[in-house]
Amino acid sequence: MTLQPRPKLAPSLLSADFGNLAHDISAAEEGGADSLHLDIMDGHFVPNISFGPAVVKSVRARTSLPLDVHLMVSDPGRYLTAFAKAGGDVLVWHVESNGDFSSLLEETRKLKVKAGVAISPSTPFSRVVELLPKVDELIVMSVEPGFSGQKFIPGMLSRISEARELIDRSGRNITLSVDGGINDETVVMAAEAGADFFVCGNSVYGNGKTPQENLQALRAALQRRSAPSPKHT
Ligand code: DX5
Ligand code: ZN
Repeated sequence: MTLQPRPKLAPSLLSADFGNLAHDISAAEEGGADSLHLDIMDGHFVPNISFGPAVVKSVRARTSLPLDVHLMVSDPGRYLTAFAKAGGDVLVWHVESNGDFSSLLEETRKLKVKAGVAISPSTPFSRVVELLPKVDELIVMSVEPGFSGQKFIPGMLSRISEARELIDRSGRNITLSVDGGINDETVVMAAEAGADFFVCGNSVYGNGKTPQENLQALRAALQRRSAPSPKHT
């Protein structure tokens, strides 16, 4: 039996209370979050605008959790240094952006941060294959990027499996993240399809329960999935 790595949960602060970020960061820590996901939107690559390096810097000062910076911006090359300096640990840009990927990779190396790529629902995987030997993370979007609180697109499960195969074939230890519409049902489906890292916005911060309770419920759903069924014991 292949030992699967423990699935990881990354609350997305896009769904947090921006007037009370310190509280929501501590709640994520107390709930056992593995990292924090920071959605950067420029109002051009996606229709929404979120926040920039100043906020990332303030988040950095509040937590020692790894910070995954998801750049939904048209020109990621303009911002890598700023987000690395602000304390981002992984800088992820979209394969649909205008970035020159080899310079982006070179820059992340110089900045001594990890590099990741994200792929939107309708983009073919041929766009990421040549990057896999060089990145640390692949985010498969399970909603159109731009907003939290959207529904997981069911057709994305086969894309997660496809991404899993590509990563396994690469022989590299690349984190396979899934982002968008993750809740205690879709987290299980996405895990079955091969994802090992789950970005959770509304299912952690947006449903009236505490982030601690929500993270516990997500973790419990994943554990039920991995527990051997009684008839086989
Ligand atoms: C969407 C963002 C997601 C979003 C996830 O463009 O990349 O990270 O915040 O939010 P939920 O989990 O609510 O879909
Ligand atoms: Zn995101």
